[in-house]
Amino acid sequence: MNVADSELMAQVLDEEYDLTVQAEDADLYLINTCAIRRKSEEKVKSLLGSLKFLKQKRPQLILGVGGCVAQQEGERLLASAPHLNLVFGTKGIYRLPGLVDRAVRGERVVDVALERDFPDPPHRSWSQGTVQTMVTIMCGCDNFCTFCVVPYVRGRETSREPGAIVDEIAAFVAAGGQEVTLLGQNVNSYGRGLPEPITFPQLLRRLNGLPGLNRLRFATSHPRDLSPALINAFGELSALCEHLHLPVQSGANRVLKRMNRGYTREHYLGKVAALRQACPGIALSTDLIVGFPGETEADFRQTLDLMREAGFDQAFSFKYSPRPQTRAATFPDQVPEDVKTDRLTRLQALQDELTQKAHARLVGQEQEVLVEGRSKRSPQELGGRLRTNQVVNFIGPRELVGRLARVSITEAHPHSLKGRWVQGSSTG
Ligand code: 5AD
Ligand code: SF4
Repeated sequence: MNVADSELMAQVLDEEYDLTVQAEDADLYLINTCAIRRKSEEKVKSLLGSLKFLKQKRPQLILGVGGCVAQQEGERLLASAPHLNLVFGTKGIYRLPGLVDRAVRGERVVDVALERDFPDPPHRSWSQGTVQTMVTIMCGCDNFCTFCVVPYVRGRETSREPGAIVDEIAAFVAAGGQEVTLLGQNVNSYGRGLPEPITFPQLLRRLNGLPGLNRLRFATSHPRDLSPALINAFGELSALCEHLHLPVQSGANRVLKRMNRGYTREHYLGKVAALRQACPGIALSTDLIVGFPGETEADFRQTLDLMREAGFDQAFSFKYSPRPQTRAATFPDQVPEDVKTDRLTRLQALQDELTQKAHARLVGQEQEVLVEGRSKRSPQELGGRLRTNQVVNFIGPRELVGRLARVSITEAHPHSLKGRWVQGSSTG
């Protein structure tokens, strides 16, 4: 989501500014920030400190901080950093040109207004050879999970008009695009509050009908709102990739209740079973929090147990981090840091095992890869992703970049797969 927002910042400023790769050359330096855990917030403060030297070398440099930490801190951020010119919140992106102008004229600017509507994004154009893009379809969240700062920094849930989404994606596909990831904090509840009644599965169906769109993904889904219609879409829509990110957070009902998640482990596992029935090859990934206030060893083991039962292909796991304004931050039974660290280590060891098993199952299969470019580790190799989202590296001609290729999976590694190109196969 932050990558998409950073791209949006570059787009709205496209008329006045070009991107530079050298920070020392910049006239304008914007830091996009995340407030989801304390660590990300600390990174912002230290980066901001280290940029003092840049400002000394180039006094005319305009330095700005945007995104969720900016939304949360507002004026305080400006007060804490005298070399900072501009603070803009999560909706301030759309007003950036005007805000930057004011900063250039010498004003120290703060814009953290969090209005309700979904502002019109700028007209997007894609350079030749861009095969993947992200499209934001909604912003904000109304769920108020007790650990989460998002509803406070991104505001109320608002959906974007379906016509604008379809037009944007049709233009991307017309320019040669192949894969789109739809973004929102809780895409399952897409459509609520729009004048034209539409559900998320209906939006997916409209996009699935766009000729040339080979791969459709989305993030993130809330398990409570995962409807039977959405589950069935995985078996029915040819463009919809066989992968779902479905954050469970915990496997213990007591913890889920105190998190205000609105489902039980039994509900969650029931949805996993339904997904596997509708789409047998589906890959599942999740988010997990360890050391939520009051989490006991027994609760934690329930999480490990659920991970095994759900058979996650991938998990993003975090130590609980108390966030300003959230209810869980005030819970009295906070878990000690060393217990969190121990649980995270054990959880990640289990997930490594599960991932390895999932990878091993793919060995020997022929699969479709969307080739993204050269592999990061070994430049003679190409790298891309399967429909089920695993990274595959293989040796093949450079002309395959941006195309779909058939690859036979030969080796399973902890974070990726190795494959052999099935000669002559490529489309798109
Ligand atoms: N502490 C730790 N992890 C958190 N997440 C959200 N809030 C917190 C927090 N306070 C995690 C959740 C969410 C992911 C994006 O970040 O697992 O799904
Ligand atoms: Fe945060 Fe996601 Fe819960 Fe919304 S649904 S409050 S974004 S964890």
